[in-house]
Amino acid sequence: MTTLFDPITLGPVTLSNRIMMAPMTRGRGTDKHVPLPRIADYYAQRAGAGLIISEAIPISVQGAGWPYSPGLWSDEQVEAWKPVTQAVHEAGGRIVAQLWHMGRVVHPAMSGEQPVSASAIAPPGEAFTYEGRQPHVEPRALRVDEIPGLIADYVNAANNAIRAGFDGVQLHGANGYIIDQFLRDSSNQRTDDYGGSIENRARLLLEVTQALVDSIGSDRVSVRLSPNGEVQGVIDSNPEPLFAYVARELDKIGLSFLELREARSDAQPALSPVIREAFKGVLVLNGDYTLGDGNEAVASGRADAISYGRPYIANPDLVDRFREGWPLAEQKPGPGAYSPIDEGYADYPRYEAAVA
Ligand SMILES: Cc1cc2nc3c(=O)[nH]c(=O)nc-3n(C[C@H](O)[C@H](O)[C@H](O)COP(=O)(O)O)c2cc1C
Repeated sequence: MTTLFDPITLGPVTLSNRIMMAPMTRGRGTDKHVPLPRIADYYAQRAGAGLIISEAIPISVQGAGWPYSPGLWSDEQVEAWKPVTQAVHEAGGRIVAQLWHMGRVVHPAMSGEQPVSASAIAPPGEAFTYEGRQPHVEPRALRVDEIPGLIADYVNAANNAIRAGFDGVQLHGANGYIIDQFLRDSSNQRTDDYGGSIENRARLLLEVTQALVDSIGSDRVSVRLSPNGEVQGVIDSNPEPLFAYVARELDKIGLSFLELREARSDAQPALSPVIREAFKGVLVLNGDYTLGDGNEAVASGRADAISYGRPYIANPDLVDRFREGWPLAEQKPGPGAYSPIDEGYADYPRYEAAVA
């Protein structure tokens, strides 16, 4: 029976276990979106994961709405990421870069321009800026003639990721950001080739994915989706056929793996069984998993691997703690992802060090 501690093959590489670190924004860049050196310590400490999926990394100024999020559009950023990927590799790990455009969730105080989205519909709530939270502003609908430029920004960031030493990229298609804003119908009311039908709403996701595969190879491209539940005002009125179609088309393109962040509640039925049917490649599930139900998911074949997010914040040695049955540490209270401070970041000890 397969367990989380068994290796798994992703194209040409074999991961030593099926425990991935889920992408988590931690805000440890400069206010110009350049990675700070401590990011290398943080990820190297977590290199025991079969694969690290990095924090969401903005691909462009237009897409960067999170204070202190380290980006990947400039040479300066590429240089600053190199020590991070090197530290992970020296520690025996692997890391892919999650590529992020926040779309309508970006505040003009961050980007200097009106945000773009599928349609001119503002998200609920407030945006993060360096001056604190501010109400979201109404985005403008991205013009069709701007889409090649958006795709080019993703491709540029993917090429930069490879130059910076990442083992691949993950397209962030989840959590109410621009790809998700096009996919699901609460945020997409377009009447052109990128709105309306399922095929049209999935077009941006599939075009970006194909462009990434064409430029860095399918072995190095993964996609993350959040098919069920509302995130940042993004939800779909009929998600099952939408995500079945998306899964079929992604299967045709071919991916390193597909990761699903699923809300786990009775009110929001999981779509992973439908997606599992349509997508024949490696499927990674995420969301509130423990060691026990993660093992159950891979043993039953519902998933090939599990990604863990919050447990990784305070447990850099999560794989060892799971394997040895050691207790998990709790995250310290603090600003978490909103401030580039040292505390509560790369200062969580391994279990042996904590009890020594
Ligand atoms: C601090 C924090 C930051 C996060 N940042 C991201 C992100 O950058 N990209 C992303 O796709 N998901 C992000 N997430 C969601 C996580 O990847 C994951 O889906 C979520 O925490 C549920 O998994 P878990 O129960 O294992 O924590 C973040 C979650 C947390 C707690």
